[in-house]
Amino acid sequence: MKESILENNIFMRALRCEPVERTPVWLMRQAGRYQPEYRAIRQKLSFLELCHNSQVAAEVTVMAVEMLKVDAGIIFADILLPLQCLNAGLRFAQGDGPVIDNPVRSSADVDNLTAFDVQDGLGYVLEAIKLFVKEKPLVPLIGFAGAPFTLASYLIEGGSSRHFERTKAFMYLEPLAFEKLMAILTDVTIEYLLAQAAAGANCLMLFDSWVGTLGREDYTTAILPHSRRIFAALQNVVPTIHFGTATGGMLDLVASAGSDVIGVDWRMNLASAWDLIGPKAVQGNLDPTVLLGDRKLIYDRTRMVLEQAGGRSGHIFNLGHGIGKDTPVDNVKYLVESVRELSTRKALSYEP
Ligand code: CP3
Repeated sequence: MKESILENNIFMRALRCEPVERTPVWLMRQAGRYQPEYRAIRQKLSFLELCHNSQVAAEVTVMAVEMLKVDAGIIFADILLPLQCLNAGLRFAQGDGPVIDNPVRSSADVDNLTAFDVQDGLGYVLEAIKLFVKEKPLVPLIGFAGAPFTLASYLIEGGSSRHFERTKAFMYLEPLAFEKLMAILTDVTIEYLLAQAAAGANCLMLFDSWVGTLGREDYTTAILPHSRRIFAALQNVVPTIHFGTATGGMLDLVASAGSDVIGVDWRMNLASAWDLIGPKAVQGNLDPTVLLGDRKLIYDRTRMVLEQAGGRSGHIFNLGHGIGKDTPVDNVKYLVESVRELSTRKALSYEP
């Protein structure tokens, strides 16, 4: 593992399941539309322009860390950016989320995806990482990528989806083409994540956000070998986090893919999830919509998550999914303060 000045940082220690004086906390989508400052930047730049502007992307990353006083930054980018380089025709339609203009619907479409060099195609993300590290050398930075299945689902569906029927039909009817697509996306993901670590990311997170739509058989045969290849390639590079939603029925399988940390959503009690995951660090798992409630609810539910973690080493506090755009900023700040207060080990053992 890479030597770094962050070796003793609490987030880095928790990733390695070492004891910490309080539970580290960061939040998925900590930079985003719930912040007025972010919305102001988006008045001037489209989402893709913002991602491509390394300077502003780094600033937005720093802004979230400073505003919330969280224990880690996550580089401002998107899992779908590599799809632009594959010539899939990625765009973000006003209010409609991502659109893929050249969806993958046949084996010929898989063959037409263009190979690209990560340094050329995604160098702007690597540059943003370098800028963040220069500005905040003492704050751990998370680099990330989308997992092959989640990326494939956008390519095949042509955008977001509810039931992933086209994706599953392609997987069942064109197994060789699906496998080839997964292998291409796995290669890109490995190269991209290694480049992010080389640029200075201290931890790498793989988002397989939608893999919970699959049953155990399909996960085991069509997905797991690729995820294993990714984590094998990252072994001894930097610590890794593997996240998905609705993965309660397959957490044992997800854990076997080989990351250091498993991210879990709110649909499961954290203690039961941890039992399935086994001896590894766990990240999660407050329901992000709790942040739409009042302070008492936020405080009580935060305490519940911490109680389920039970003071075990290797808990990183997070939401079960990203912060929603209509979330009040003060509630997000209050959540981070509550985690700090409730998880401070010295305070818990303090006797007057
Ligand atoms: O602070 C951070 O978390 C870092 C930045 C980040 C973004 N996207 C910025 C973003 C990260 C880590 C992501 C990951 C991402 N992107 C995932 C995996 C995590 C998850 O939510 O499950 C997925 C599935 C995507 C794909 C994506 N990007 C969608 C479906 C959308 C549109 C819908 C939505 O939630 O807004 C995006 C756009 C996007 N990515 C925004 C942000 C801040 C909003 C864009 C805007 O400013 O209009």
